[in-house]
Amino acid sequence: MRFLKIIFFFIAFQMTAQQGGMWIPSLLEGMNEDEMQSLGSKLTAQDIYDVNNSSLKDAIGHFNGGCTSEVISPKGLLLTNHHCGFSQIQSHSSLENDYLRDGFWAMTLEEEIPNDGLFVEFIVRIEDVTDAMLAGVTNEMSPRARQSKIDINRNAVVKATQKEDWQGIKIRPFYKGNAYYLFVTERFEDVRLVGAPPSSIGKFGSDTDNWVWPRHTGDFSMFRIYADKNNRPAKYSKDNVPYKPKHFLPVSLDGIEEGDFTMVFGFPGRTNEYLPAVAIEQITQKVNPSNIAIREAALKVIDANMKADDQIRIQYASKQARIANAWKKWIGENLGIQKSGAIAIKRKFESDFTKALKAKGMETEYGTILPEFSRLYNEFEAVNVKRNNFIEVFFRTNELMQMAFRAFQMEQAIIANPNNLDKAVESFKNRLKRIHKNYNVNVDKGVYQAVMPLYTSTVDASIYDKTAFTDMDSASKLLEGTGDEILEKLNNDAAYQYAKPLIKEFYTKLEPEFQQINTQINALQTKYMTALMKVMPEERYFPDANSTLRVTYGKVNGYAPRDAVYYDPVTYLDGVIEKYVPGDYEFDVPQKLRDLYDAKDYGQYADKNGKLPICFLGTNHTTGGNSGSPAIDAEGNLVGLNFDRVWEGTMSDIYYDPEICRNIMVDLRYVLFIVDKYAGAKRLIDEMKLVHPKKK
Ligand code: ARG
Ligand code: ASP
Repeated sequence: MRFLKIIFFFIAFQMTAQQGGMWIPSLLEGMNEDEMQSLGSKLTAQDIYDVNNSSLKDAIGHFNGGCTSEVISPKGLLLTNHHCGFSQIQSHSSLENDYLRDGFWAMTLEEEIPNDGLFVEFIVRIEDVTDAMLAGVTNEMSPRARQSKIDINRNAVVKATQKEDWQGIKIRPFYKGNAYYLFVTERFEDVRLVGAPPSSIGKFGSDTDNWVWPRHTGDFSMFRIYADKNNRPAKYSKDNVPYKPKHFLPVSLDGIEEGDFTMVFGFPGRTNEYLPAVAIEQITQKVNPSNIAIREAALKVIDANMKADDQIRIQYASKQARIANAWKKWIGENLGIQKSGAIAIKRKFESDFTKALKAKGMETEYGTILPEFSRLYNEFEAVNVKRNNFIEVFFRTNELMQMAFRAFQMEQAIIANPNNLDKAVESFKNRLKRIHKNYNVNVDKGVYQAVMPLYTSTVDASIYDKTAFTDMDSASKLLEGTGDEILEKLNNDAAYQYAKPLIKEFYTKLEPEFQQINTQINALQTKYMTALMKVMPEERYFPDANSTLRVTYGKVNGYAPRDAVYYDPVTYLDGVIEKYVPGDYEFDVPQKLRDLYDAKDYGQYADKNGKLPICFLGTNHTTGGNSGSPAIDAEGNLVGLNFDRVWEGTMSDIYYDPEICRNIMVDLRYVLFIVDKYAGAKRLIDEMKLVHPKKK
């Protein structure tokens, strides 16, 4: 009987443990620890997060603010995705040294390449500062009054927090502002490129395979953190030395099998799991489709140019990947929301919520939330769509419009205070330089012609022949002289004249209207979250992702995307060869990799059937930002490198369906195989700690 009870306990926990969630590492004791152990984990909460002793969290670094990375050797060797290190790899690439195409391997420490501006940040400790942050905050306050009280509290909290000089502090809202956590951080700014496979491995399958399973991409790159002589963060210096981490992840050579426990530890960026149905409708039916159309138009132009010209291919590689990635994700998200019936499910949930409100006599307090959402989103729709489209055109796709936007900001700064002149011009010039580093005027003009008609009815491509901004020299000339002279030249520039009314409309109409409604929506969302946790306390609530360190866990698991189809959770090198298309820009396979395959020369990296695993799936709930996150086994060893999700489950940012949402990881054995057998960078393997947890 007792035995049965225990079994029941574990089954019940296994079921809920599969429901997703991204959890705060300092709060795992209790429910999360139990759930993880029910899935097979042997780790305790302290193994994962500990303030006084080193723990897994000390190996996890936020990579340049957008991705995740992990330390895998006592000498600060860092692993992340190829697509996370992509712009660094690109920035060191040229037609002569094409690291994007051919890969790059530093064979000594001296050959490791510094990266201007790149940083990696670790979490020293996490504190719950909810009470201090919300002291004096009441439900009756207007959103603005609430925010200014919180800002005052924030200053006091920061002041009262003890930290070392070289450490930083971040405070972030959780549960839509119902809780606040503080993070003490350590940021390393000397991070050097160590190795990257060729794109035909690191980006194998490119856009066709992106967001798709089965997958065969070796999406990894390696960096190294350098510190000063005291092992502390320091700006780049040739005297810096490899960082000695508090913890690094041992790498398992035994890999995974279907059903094995995995956890993914990283910095998920943004999710929105508690939106009302009306919001999901607006996103999927209005915002996504118009944004998709703009990106699609831009991509057609960029893709064609990249295929025709190697110089353009290198210049636009990073931009193209960024534009294509969200474009495809939104398409998948829309399909997934439709297929999973997410909107109907949310509606049903909302009617349960309404019933529970009645049953508990809380209607007066919370009964207006859902009708208010409907009213606000209705009012929001036009401006929300238009503002989104503006951002797509002026920031994501067309570069001349982006330059005009920055010019407008410069003009405003100078008008506001003529003493700003030098600073404003300087910062605008730096922006221009960054854009021009990878700029081709014909590509950009093509993009303009393709995207602009989707935003406004006045389109005039002749501005490209009459503007100073398509060329860095003429742009610099325009920026010479007194403030008055510069502004006069600027206002006579054809591209600026064209863009200015659109930018003005953004600042005077779109942005204020958007903010005005959005503030109300956010305040309502805070109240909705409070209400949910009070009225339906039995539900399982996790805080939305907000670029802070989180743990998510699950099992290695395949899935059934549609009737009669089941996807196995592991792919093999055989599948790379199956997809091989000689000379193809997406599916070419390097000769050396084909030779290793023919010889079955997999060394210690083959699985027990003699096959070389490439990627695998798990039920870990991940999102953008989790790229580069380690997949960790039941004993704390590294088994995989997270980099993507499956097509049918890309909607997991707004609706997590445990049946079909899966994350995609590179098997670490493939990573090691490429480093060792393909690249011959044995020195890197030698500094790692390779383990056999399953052969004890
Ligand atoms: N979809 C993954 C993520 O959101 C991987 C993107 C990189 N790969 C690519 N083909 N663009 O970042
Ligand atoms: N590919 C994403 C990233 O770069 C991960 C994801 O969205 O699943 O973070």
